[in-house]
Amino acid sequence: MKQKVIVAAKMYDEPLSILKKWFDVVHIESVNDSTRPSFLEELSDAHGLINMGLIVDQHLLNRAPHLKIVSNISVGYDNLDIAELTLRGIMATNTPDVLNDTTADAVMALLLSTARRIPELDQYVKRGEWKQLLVRDEMFGVDIHGKTLGIIGMGRIGTAIAKRAHLGFDMEILYYNRNRNMNAEELYQCKYCSLEELLQRSDFICLMTPLTKETEYLIGKKQFEQMKRSAIFINASRGMTVNEKDLIMALENKWIAAAGLDVYEQEPIDPSHRLLTLPNVVTLPHIGGATLATRMKMMNLAVNNIVEGLMGNSPPHLINKDVVV
Ligand code: DGY
Repeated sequence: MKQKVIVAAKMYDEPLSILKKWFDVVHIESVNDSTRPSFLEELSDAHGLINMGLIVDQHLLNRAPHLKIVSNISVGYDNLDIAELTLRGIMATNTPDVLNDTTADAVMALLLSTARRIPELDQYVKRGEWKQLLVRDEMFGVDIHGKTLGIIGMGRIGTAIAKRAHLGFDMEILYYNRNRNMNAEELYQCKYCSLEELLQRSDFICLMTPLTKETEYLIGKKQFEQMKRSAIFINASRGMTVNEKDLIMALENKWIAAAGLDVYEQEPIDPSHRLLTLPNVVTLPHIGGATLATRMKMMNLAVNNIVEGLMGNSPPHLINKDVVV
Protein backbone atom coordinates (compact mmCIF):
# COMPACT_ATOMS: atom_id res chain seq x y z
CA MET A 1 0.00 0.00 0.00
CA LYS A 2 1.20 3.51 -0.82
CA GLN A 3 2.09 5.85 2.01
CA LYS A 4 -0.01 8.99 2.42
CA VAL A 5 1.28 12.53 2.01
CA ILE A 6 -0.64 15.72 2.72
CA VAL A 7 0.38 18.80 0.78
CA ALA A 8 -0.84 21.73 2.85
CA ALA A 9 0.41 24.49 0.56
CA LYS A 10 0.14 25.64 -3.00
CA MET A 11 1.99 23.18 -5.24
CA TYR A 12 2.65 23.41 -8.98
CA ASP A 13 1.63 20.52 -11.27
CA GLU A 14 5.12 19.18 -11.99
CA PRO A 15 6.24 18.56 -8.38
CA LEU A 16 2.72 17.41 -7.49
CA SER A 17 2.78 14.77 -10.23
CA ILE A 18 6.12 13.43 -8.94
CA LEU A 19 4.59 13.04 -5.50
CA LYS A 20 1.54 11.26 -6.91
CA LYS A 21 3.76 8.62 -8.54
CA TRP A 22 4.99 7.50 -5.14
CA PHE A 23 2.28 8.34 -2.64
CA ASP A 24 -1.43 8.78 -2.02
CA VAL A 25 -1.60 12.55 -2.06
CA VAL A 26 -4.16 14.81 -0.43
CA HIS A 27 -3.79 18.43 -1.53
CA ILE A 28 -5.21 21.20 0.64
CA GLU A 29 -3.89 24.50 -0.74
CA SER A 30 -4.45 26.48 2.39
CA VAL A 31 -5.20 25.47 5.96
CA ASN A 32 -7.73 27.98 7.27
CA ASP A 33 -10.80 27.96 9.51
CA SER A 34 -12.92 26.22 6.91
CA THR A 35 -10.36 23.60 5.76
CA ARG A 36 -8.78 22.85 9.17
CA PRO A 37 -11.30 20.13 10.22
CA SER A 38 -10.74 18.10 7.05
CA PHE A 39 -6.99 18.74 7.20
CA LEU A 40 -6.86 17.33 10.75
CA GLU A 41 -8.97 14.37 9.71
CA GLU A 42 -6.57 13.60 6.83
CA LEU A 43 -3.59 14.06 9.14
CA SER A 44 -4.68 11.18 11.36
CA ASP A 45 -3.29 8.54 8.97
CA ALA A 46 -0.70 10.62 7.04
CA HIS A 47 2.97 9.65 6.83
CA GLY A 48 4.28 12.84 5.34
CA LEU A 49 3.34 16.52 5.44
CA ILE A 50 4.51 19.25 3.05
CA ASN A 51 3.74 22.79 4.15
CA MET A 52 4.70 26.42 3.95
CA GLY A 53 4.59 28.34 7.23
CA LEU A 54 2.11 26.04 8.99
CA ILE A 55 2.65 25.92 12.76
CA VAL A 56 3.69 22.36 13.50
CA ASP A 57 3.65 21.99 17.28
CA GLN A 58 2.70 19.47 19.93
CA HIS A 59 -1.04 20.02 19.38
CA LEU A 60 -0.82 19.36 15.68
CA LEU A 61 1.50 16.40 16.14
CA ASN A 62 -0.93 14.81 18.62
CA ARG A 63 -3.31 14.56 15.67
CA ALA A 64 -0.70 12.88 13.46
CA PRO A 65 0.34 9.58 15.10
CA HIS A 66 1.79 8.07 11.89
CA LEU A 67 3.78 11.06 10.70
CA LYS A 68 7.41 10.34 9.73
CA ILE A 69 8.45 13.56 8.04
CA VAL A 70 7.50 17.25 7.81
CA SER A 71 8.87 18.99 4.74
CA ASN A 72 8.91 22.79 4.78
CA ILE A 73 8.82 24.67 1.47
CA SER A 74 11.05 27.38 2.96
CA VAL A 75 14.54 27.83 4.26
CA GLY A 76 13.30 29.25 7.59
CA TYR A 77 11.78 26.70 9.96
CA ASP A 78 10.68 28.75 12.95
CA ASN A 79 7.17 27.36 12.30
CA LEU A 80 8.38 23.88 13.34
CA ASP A 81 8.86 22.70 16.92
CA ILE A 82 12.10 20.89 16.15
CA ALA A 83 12.60 19.59 19.70
CA GLU A 84 9.13 18.04 19.71
CA LEU A 85 9.56 16.54 16.24
CA THR A 86 12.91 15.06 17.24
CA LEU A 87 11.46 13.63 20.44
CA ARG A 88 8.82 11.88 18.38
CA GLY A 89 11.36 10.63 15.82
CA ILE A 90 9.83 12.71 13.03
CA MET A 91 12.18 14.12 10.38
CA ALA A 92 12.05 17.83 9.56
CA THR A 93 13.43 19.25 6.31
CA ASN A 94 13.75 22.63 4.59
CA THR A 95 14.75 24.10 1.22
CA PRO A 96 17.99 26.07 1.56
CA ASP A 97 20.30 27.49 -1.13
CA VAL A 98 17.93 27.61 -4.11
CA LEU A 99 16.51 30.94 -2.91
CA ASN A 100 19.76 32.68 -1.94
CA ASP A 101 20.15 34.84 -5.05
CA THR A 102 16.45 35.60 -5.40
CA THR A 103 16.22 36.75 -1.79
CA ALA A 104 19.42 38.79 -2.07
CA ASP A 105 17.99 40.48 -5.20
CA ALA A 106 14.83 41.37 -3.24
CA VAL A 107 16.86 42.77 -0.35
CA MET A 108 18.87 44.99 -2.72
CA ALA A 109 15.59 46.14 -4.30
CA LEU A 110 14.23 47.04 -0.85
CA LEU A 111 17.44 48.81 0.09
CA LEU A 112 17.47 50.85 -3.11
CA SER A 113 13.75 51.59 -2.93
CA THR A 114 14.07 52.88 0.60
CA ALA A 115 17.26 54.87 -0.02
CA ARG A 116 16.01 56.46 -3.23
CA ARG A 117 12.36 56.67 -2.08
CA ILE A 118 11.16 54.87 -5.21
CA PRO A 119 7.57 54.01 -4.14
CA GLU A 120 6.96 57.56 -2.86
CA LEU A 121 8.28 59.16 -6.07
CA ASP A 122 6.43 56.69 -8.27
CA GLN A 123 3.20 57.82 -6.62
CA TYR A 124 4.22 61.48 -6.99
CA VAL A 125 4.60 61.09 -10.76
CA LYS A 126 1.43 59.03 -11.15
CA ARG A 127 -0.63 61.54 -9.14
CA GLY A 128 0.40 64.17 -11.68
CA GLU A 129 2.30 66.23 -9.13
CA TRP A 130 5.53 66.44 -11.17
CA LYS A 131 5.00 69.94 -12.57
CA GLN A 132 8.52 71.42 -12.55
CA LEU A 133 11.41 69.89 -14.44
CA LEU A 134 13.73 70.02 -11.43
CA VAL A 135 12.49 68.07 -8.45
CA ARG A 136 12.90 69.83 -5.07
CA ASP A 137 15.88 68.80 -2.91
CA GLU A 138 13.44 67.64 -0.19
CA MET A 139 12.53 64.76 -2.45
CA PHE A 140 16.08 63.51 -2.93
CA GLY A 141 17.16 60.20 -1.54
CA VAL A 142 20.59 59.05 -0.40
CA ASP A 143 23.38 57.16 -2.19
CA ILE A 144 24.08 53.58 -1.36
CA HIS A 145 27.34 53.24 -3.33
CA GLY A 146 30.46 53.70 -1.26
CA LYS A 147 28.50 53.53 2.03
CA THR A 148 28.79 51.03 4.88
CA LEU A 149 26.38 48.12 5.01
CA GLY A 150 26.00 46.13 8.23
CA ILE A 151 24.64 42.62 7.76
CA ILE A 152 23.31 40.86 10.86
CA GLY A 153 23.26 37.14 10.09
CA MET A 154 25.94 36.27 7.54
CA GLY A 155 24.64 32.94 6.27
CA ARG A 156 24.21 32.02 2.64
CA ILE A 157 21.68 34.76 1.88
CA GLY A 158 23.72 37.32 3.81
CA THR A 159 26.75 36.36 1.71
CA ALA A 160 24.77 36.77 -1.52
CA ILE A 161 23.77 40.28 -0.35
CA ALA A 162 27.41 41.08 0.52
CA LYS A 163 28.45 40.00 -2.99
CA ARG A 164 25.99 42.39 -4.63
CA ALA A 165 26.75 45.25 -2.25
CA HIS A 166 30.53 44.92 -2.47
CA LEU A 167 31.01 44.07 -6.14
CA GLY A 168 28.06 46.04 -7.51
CA PHE A 169 27.88 49.06 -5.22
CA ASP A 170 31.37 49.32 -3.81
CA MET A 171 30.05 49.19 -0.26
CA GLU A 172 32.10 48.45 2.83
CA ILE A 173 30.55 45.48 4.61
CA LEU A 174 30.46 44.90 8.36
CA TYR A 175 28.85 41.77 9.70
CA TYR A 176 27.75 40.20 12.95
CA ASN A 177 27.11 36.47 13.13
CA ARG A 178 27.36 33.53 15.53
CA ASN A 179 30.50 32.40 13.67
CA ARG A 180 33.02 34.07 11.42
CA ASN A 181 32.26 33.60 7.73
CA MET A 182 35.72 33.32 6.13
CA ASN A 183 34.24 32.93 2.67
CA ALA A 184 32.50 36.32 2.92
CA GLU A 185 35.61 37.89 4.44
CA GLU A 186 37.89 36.65 1.66
CA LEU A 187 35.59 37.17 -1.32
CA TYR A 188 33.86 40.43 -0.38
CA GLN A 189 36.18 41.94 2.25
CA CYS A 190 33.46 41.67 4.92
CA LYS A 191 34.66 42.70 8.38
CA TYR A 192 33.48 40.81 11.44
CA CYS A 193 32.53 43.01 14.41
CA SER A 194 30.32 43.21 17.49
CA LEU A 195 26.63 44.01 17.11
CA GLU A 196 27.20 47.31 18.87
CA GLU A 197 29.96 48.39 16.50
CA LEU A 198 27.90 47.36 13.49
CA LEU A 199 24.91 49.38 14.69
CA GLN A 200 27.03 52.45 15.38
CA ARG A 201 29.03 52.46 12.14
CA SER A 202 26.60 51.30 9.44
CA ASP A 203 24.70 53.54 7.05
CA PHE A 204 22.46 50.62 6.12
CA ILE A 205 21.61 47.77 8.46
CA CYS A 206 20.23 44.60 7.04
CA LEU A 207 18.76 41.97 9.38
CA MET A 208 18.99 38.46 7.91
CA THR A 209 19.18 36.20 10.93
CA PRO A 210 16.85 33.19 11.36
CA LEU A 211 14.26 33.47 14.13
CA THR A 212 15.38 31.52 17.20
CA LYS A 213 15.04 32.02 20.97
CA GLU A 214 18.30 34.02 20.81
CA THR A 215 17.23 36.31 17.96
CA GLU A 216 13.66 37.05 19.09
CA TYR A 217 13.46 40.85 19.52
CA LEU A 218 17.19 41.10 18.79
CA ILE A 219 16.55 44.65 17.60
CA GLY A 220 14.63 46.99 19.88
CA LYS A 221 14.81 50.43 21.49
CA LYS A 222 18.40 50.07 22.74
CA GLN A 223 19.67 48.95 19.33
CA PHE A 224 17.78 51.66 17.40
CA GLU A 225 19.25 54.27 19.74
CA GLN A 226 22.74 53.02 18.84
CA MET A 227 22.19 53.49 15.10
CA LYS A 228 23.13 56.63 13.15
CA ARG A 229 20.27 59.09 12.75
CA SER A 230 20.77 58.73 9.00
CA ALA A 231 20.62 54.91 9.14
CA ILE A 232 18.28 52.91 6.93
CA PHE A 233 17.12 49.67 8.51
CA ILE A 234 16.07 46.65 6.42
CA ASN A 235 14.38 43.54 7.78
CA ALA A 236 14.04 40.52 5.48
CA SER A 237 14.42 37.82 8.13
CA ARG A 238 11.36 37.23 10.31
CA GLY A 239 9.12 39.87 11.88
CA MET A 240 9.66 38.66 15.43
CA THR A 241 13.38 39.51 15.31
CA VAL A 242 12.40 43.19 15.67
CA ASN A 243 10.27 44.87 18.33
CA GLU A 244 7.84 46.70 16.04
CA LYS A 245 6.66 49.14 18.70
CA ASP A 246 10.27 50.24 19.17
CA LEU A 247 10.79 50.45 15.41
CA ILE A 248 7.80 52.80 15.15
CA MET A 249 9.21 54.88 18.01
CA ALA A 250 12.60 55.03 16.27
CA LEU A 251 11.04 56.12 12.97
CA GLU A 252 8.67 58.66 14.50
CA ASN A 253 11.35 60.21 16.69
CA LYS A 254 13.85 60.23 13.81
CA TRP A 255 16.37 58.07 15.68
CA ILE A 256 16.80 56.45 12.26
CA ALA A 257 15.97 57.77 8.79
CA ALA A 258 13.88 55.02 7.24
CA ALA A 259 13.04 51.32 7.14
CA GLY A 260 12.46 48.77 4.39
CA LEU A 261 10.44 45.77 5.53
CA ASP A 262 9.58 42.42 3.99
CA VAL A 263 8.44 40.79 7.23
CA TYR A 264 6.24 41.72 10.21
CA GLU A 265 5.38 40.49 13.68
CA GLN A 266 1.93 39.56 12.35
CA GLU A 267 1.52 38.41 8.72
CA PRO A 268 -0.41 39.55 6.83
CA ILE A 269 0.03 42.88 8.62
CA ASP A 270 -3.19 44.60 9.73
CA PRO A 271 -4.03 47.23 7.06
CA SER A 272 -4.57 49.80 9.84
CA HIS A 273 -1.15 49.14 11.42
CA ARG A 274 0.70 52.31 12.35
CA LEU A 275 3.81 51.25 10.42
CA LEU A 276 1.84 51.54 7.20
CA THR A 277 1.08 55.20 7.86
CA LEU A 278 4.72 56.29 8.12
CA PRO A 279 6.14 57.96 4.99
CA ASN A 280 9.67 56.73 5.67
CA VAL A 281 8.76 53.04 5.52
CA VAL A 282 8.82 50.89 2.37
CA THR A 283 6.88 47.64 2.67
CA LEU A 284 6.76 44.33 0.84
CA PRO A 285 4.49 41.34 1.55
CA HIS A 286 7.16 38.75 2.54
CA ILE A 287 8.35 38.11 -1.02
CA GLY A 288 12.09 37.54 -0.46
CA GLY A 289 12.22 34.23 -2.33
CA ALA A 290 9.03 34.67 -4.32
CA THR A 291 9.71 34.29 -8.02
CA LEU A 292 8.08 31.54 -10.08
CA ALA A 293 11.42 29.94 -10.98
CA THR A 294 12.66 29.88 -7.39
CA ARG A 295 9.35 28.73 -5.93
CA MET A 296 9.42 25.82 -8.39
CA LYS A 297 12.92 24.88 -7.20
CA MET A 298 11.79 25.08 -3.57
CA MET A 299 8.80 22.83 -4.26
CA ASN A 300 10.98 20.30 -6.10
CA LEU A 301 13.41 20.27 -3.18
CA ALA A 302 10.58 19.81 -0.67
CA VAL A 303 9.24 16.91 -2.75
CA ASN A 304 12.70 15.36 -3.03
CA ASN A 305 13.12 15.62 0.74
CA ILE A 306 9.86 13.80 1.39
CA VAL A 307 10.44 11.13 -1.27
CA GLU A 308 13.86 10.28 0.17
CA GLY A 309 12.60 10.42 3.76
CA LEU A 310 9.64 8.14 3.17
CA MET A 311 11.77 5.75 1.10
CA GLY A 312 13.89 5.20 4.20
CA ASN A 313 16.84 7.32 3.08
CA SER A 314 18.29 10.39 4.73
CA PRO A 315 16.62 13.42 3.07
CA PRO A 316 19.14 15.85 1.52
CA HIS A 317 18.08 18.72 3.77
CA LEU A 318 17.36 17.05 7.08
CA ILE A 319 17.28 19.62 9.92
CA ASN A 320 17.08 17.36 12.97
CA LYS A 321 19.98 15.04 12.24
CA ASP A 322 19.45 13.34 15.64
CA VAL A 323 16.46 11.52 14.21
CA VAL A 324 17.67 8.08 13.20
CA VAL A 325 16.44 7.38 9.69
C1 DGY B 1 11.84 31.24 3.61
O1 DGY B 1 12.10 30.38 2.75
O2 DGY B 1 12.13 31.08 4.80
C2 DGY B 1 11.11 32.45 3.16
O3 DGY B 1 11.18 33.48 4.07
C3 DGY B 1 9.67 32.10 2.91
O4 DGY B 1 9.06 31.77 4.11
